[in-house]
Amino acid sequence: MKRLWLATLVGALTVLLAVVLIGFRQAPDADAAPQTADADGQFQPIQFPHDTHAGQFTIPCQYCHFSAERSVDAGIPPMATCIGCHQEGIVDGRTDEAQAEIARVREYYASDTPIPWKRIYKVSDHVKFAHMRHVAAGVTCQTCHGQVQEMGVLEDMAPEAGDLRMGWCVSCHIERGASRDCTVCHY
Ligand code: HEC
Ligand code: HEC
Ligand code: HEC
Ligand code: HEC
Ligand code: HEC
Repeated sequence: MKRLWLATLVGALTVLLAVVLIGFRQAPDADAAPQTADADGQFQPIQFPHDTHAGQFTIPCQYCHFSAERSVDAGIPPMATCIGCHQEGIVDGRTDEAQAEIARVREYYASDTPIPWKRIYKVSDHVKFAHMRHVAAGVTCQTCHGQVQEMGVLEDMAPEAGDLRMGWCVSCHIERGASRDCTVCHY
């Protein structure tokens, strides 16, 4: 039963692949599409600048995204990570805007409400992607996400990410001798 199911699945995938190969580019799933800005015109609930943190103050990516090297997800840091620096009297911010935004981070923390960040990079549920395998193979964050340390508030995927399409994954796998087996990437 399991084998029959698998054979049917692989058959169906192959047909669909042919469609992909002749150039039909399906729009990403709705849940994978970037979300749009809120009514107040801000995309993210907190204007968190990567360039200040990872660029100017050279905080390593994995100080915040600490599960990237050991897990499937790179992870978004918990508020405790932010408060380590943004507790009152430590990093308060130099400008009025920075102070106001940091005060809002403290409000989330004080009310024990996780910051509802919007997700930017997301593959469909039928695709398996594991950060740790790529980090272990020495592929840098920037290869896939661009020069994040030079970006302000992240809103869109970097062009380096090739819209997270299959051709993007597969062409790098060919280049670097990684697996192109369908079942390696698909459930
Ligand atoms: C001080 C903590 C911190 C550091 C350092 C940091 N990040 Fe982030 N990162 C965050 C937070 C918070 C978010 C969620 C908000 C957002 O999308 O900007 C995030 C989001 C992201 C996202 C988008 C995730 C998604 O799909 O929504 C990527 C990609 C990313 N970071 C990569 C990096 C890279 C690469 C570096 C190093 C050059 C880095 N980050 C350094 C805190 C950090
Ligand atoms: C290792 C220390 C450190 C950590 C951890 C950290 N920050 Fe910061 N943050 C800074 C520094 C330094 C500044 C620059 C302050 C300034 O401009 O005076 C800053 C500035 C900011 C600002 C002001 C924006 C601006 O325009 O300058 C915001 C908002 C902010 N951080 C949010 C966060 C959030 C959210 C997190 C957790 C995901 C976080 N920070 C984690 C050190 C840190
Ligand atoms: C080989 C390409 C590749 C590399 C290298 C890579 N990422 Fe990602 N990243 C992705 C993809 C693809 C997704 C979407 C994954 C998903 O939907 O499960 C993603 C998602 C994310 C997210 C969203 C939240 C999460 O937990 O998945 C963050 C944050 C992130 N990456 C940060 C990083 C950081 C930091 C590094 C370096 C340590 C890194 N990435 C290296 C491709 C990559
Ligand atoms: C920039 C290059 C690059 C990109 C882009 C990339 N990968 Fe990879 N990937 C690698 C390398 C290199 C390895 C080999 C790691 C190893 O040998 O352990 C790998 C390994 C993997 C593995 C583990 C393979 C195994 O044999 O178990 C999976 C699954 C995977 N990648 C999925 C993806 C998916 C899904 C995408 C696109 C969303 C993607 N990769 C994009 C370079 C890349
Ligand atoms: C290196 C990873 C990887 C490998 C290997 C891979 N795929 Fe994919 N595949 C993806 C990604 C990523 C997507 C795009 C998902 C999305 O749109 O979010 C995708 C999408 C698809 C789709 C849906 C059509 C589309 O464009 O979204 C089909 C069908 C498919 N793959 C079949 C296959 C078959 C059959 C094989 C083996 C010949 C294969 N894939 C090998 C990563 C891979």
